[in-house]
Amino acid sequence: MAKRKAENRSFLDKWEAEYLFTYVKDKPVCLVCGVNVAVSKEYNIRRHYETKHHDKYKDLDMTQRSQKVEEMKRSLVSQQNMFKKATSQSEAAVKASYIVAAEIAKSARPFNEGEFMKKCMMKVCDLVCPEKKQAFSNVSLSRNTVADRTCDLATNLYDQLMEKGKDFVAFSLAVDESCDASDTAQLSVFIRGVDSNLCVTEELLGFKSMHGTTTGKEIFEEVSKCVTEIKLPWDKLVGLTTDGAPAMCGKKSGLVGMVREKMREENCAGELTVYHCIIHQEALCAKALKMEHVMTTVTQVVNFIRAKGLNHRQFKSFLEECGSEYADVPYHTEVRWLSRGKVLNRCFELREEICQFLETKGKDTAELREQKFLCELAFLCDISSHLDALNLQLQGRGRIITDMYAAVRAFKTKLCLWENQMLQGNPCHFPCCQSIKAQISTAVFPCAQFAEKLSVLAAEFSRRFADFDAQKCKFELLSNPFAVDVENAPTNIQMELIELQCNDTLKSKYDAVGAAQFPRFIPDTMPQLRTQAAQMLSMFGSTYLCEQLFSSMKMTKTTHRRRLNDEHLRSILRISSAQSLSPDIDELESKKRCQFDTPGLRHCQNQVSYISKP
Ligand SMILES: *[C@@H]1O[C@H](CO)[C@@H](O)[C@H](O)[C@H]1NC(C)=O
Repeated sequence: MAKRKAENRSFLDKWEAEYLFTYVKDKPVCLVCGVNVAVSKEYNIRRHYETKHHDKYKDLDMTQRSQKVEEMKRSLVSQQNMFKKATSQSEAAVKASYIVAAEIAKSARPFNEGEFMKKCMMKVCDLVCPEKKQAFSNVSLSRNTVADRTCDLATNLYDQLMEKGKDFVAFSLAVDESCDASDTAQLSVFIRGVDSNLCVTEELLGFKSMHGTTTGKEIFEEVSKCVTEIKLPWDKLVGLTTDGAPAMCGKKSGLVGMVREKMREENCAGELTVYHCIIHQEALCAKALKMEHVMTTVTQVVNFIRAKGLNHRQFKSFLEECGSEYADVPYHTEVRWLSRGKVLNRCFELREEICQFLETKGKDTAELREQKFLCELAFLCDISSHLDALNLQLQGRGRIITDMYAAVRAFKTKLCLWENQMLQGNPCHFPCCQSIKAQISTAVFPCAQFAEKLSVLAAEFSRRFADFDAQKCKFELLSNPFAVDVENAPTNIQMELIELQCNDTLKSKYDAVGAAQFPRFIPDTMPQLRTQAAQMLSMFGSTYLCEQLFSSMKMTKTTHRRRLNDEHLRSILRISSAQSLSPDIDELESKKRCQFDTPGLRHCQNQVSYISKP
């Protein structure tokens, strides 16, 4: 840098008159022919002048030369401006089409939406700025352009991911397989990589439609291809999170077993940590409540109201809420079961109105009016709300596994408290139960039975999250390294851990920036601790991203109908799921420009050159 600055200054003003050169954008440019000289040295400049133009201009005196220079400089500037305007307009048109294509992908609209947008845009332009019509009409938004741009954008994102991957110290994968309406299985693989600065990149790594039944081997082959294609070494893989299906988890022929085998073959030193998605686990815990019968009754009622009571004003908003929850039940029924807390609560609130309505339609409401049923409904409402709240805490992107685990631990503790309170006949954190209890005689409210259910739920949480409990020490290393018991820590980090714990500077840093930011401040002299932190930061707690991707895939497929091929679908999903990365529109535009530029007329990319004077 310093050297370049010195060069910049080395252009002397007197060379303007002497050699008819001027200085534009870091380069000496010949005022006569517009050529630029790469090296700003008097020798190069003089040689150009003497070989090309000296004969023509040698007879001018100093004043004439100065006048000539001024004249030529003015003309150069106006030429440049014209040139700049033309280029910047066509550049802008290309960039605009990229930006629109990205928006179309992100909103899951079909490619031909671009044509419609263009039509609207031109009409608006006619009224608002008719003089700009040409500029607007240069923006190509035809179906084919939008489709091509979409692929370019996705490729650019993938290239960026590959580039980033070179710096990864550790990475983890989240893998999920879901079936769409036409029974095609979709495999999605997300990657979370952590670089040496402990920055996290979380992106879609691969997406594949699998036809027919999928075995663990097929899933493994796809995942393996994803890892190999992006050129990531297997020994940096530290975590694998799946939805817990047998094809995924099988110790031998499941994905997990085969990845472990692959890592052995590759002589990887590290060990693969496997997680079953926290959110799935939580949903499965909820099943331990064994209250499906209540849910079944509620579902029947909702369906009846939907069929018969659509015009009832008081049910309208109720049905709207139900509608969104019931729209796609088949997929991961157990998981969706949880988000029904809202529906249950509305049912509970509207219970009297619902009964009246059913009676006017001649339905028997004896069961709904039964005290036992009402108590169970109330309990299910309350516990579902609590589970929903936990679920929300666990969802979202970029969640650190230790935080997710902390939320689960907190929930387990709450369950114990609730159980004790319930046993004492005081369901103070269960508002629906409280309101029912106030309505009926206290003796009828089955406190003991509900306390038992809470205890079963707590046991199920403990059982299902045993994997996480086993990792407790590693989690603590990330969440509070100063509290970790050194003797129980892995031997390879014990020395560094002692140094860390005894260093007051680092302790105050930890107190100041908090657990999430602290790992970045672990000094380079503690490489084992840094690597350990990178590994933990890379872990996925859930396959939430895969599920989210699946939703946007369904939306995309619906809008595109059958015309969407796999590559286009993959591109759209890569763009719409991108979070850590964003497409480099400037680079894409300049690539396009190079592709179409006539060679010799101008150079690509950063090199500025000028059209020679006639
Ligand atoms: C404590 O850590 C800081 C920051 O890395 C370092 O500069 C300092 O030398 C350490 N102090 C001791 C006593 O090791």
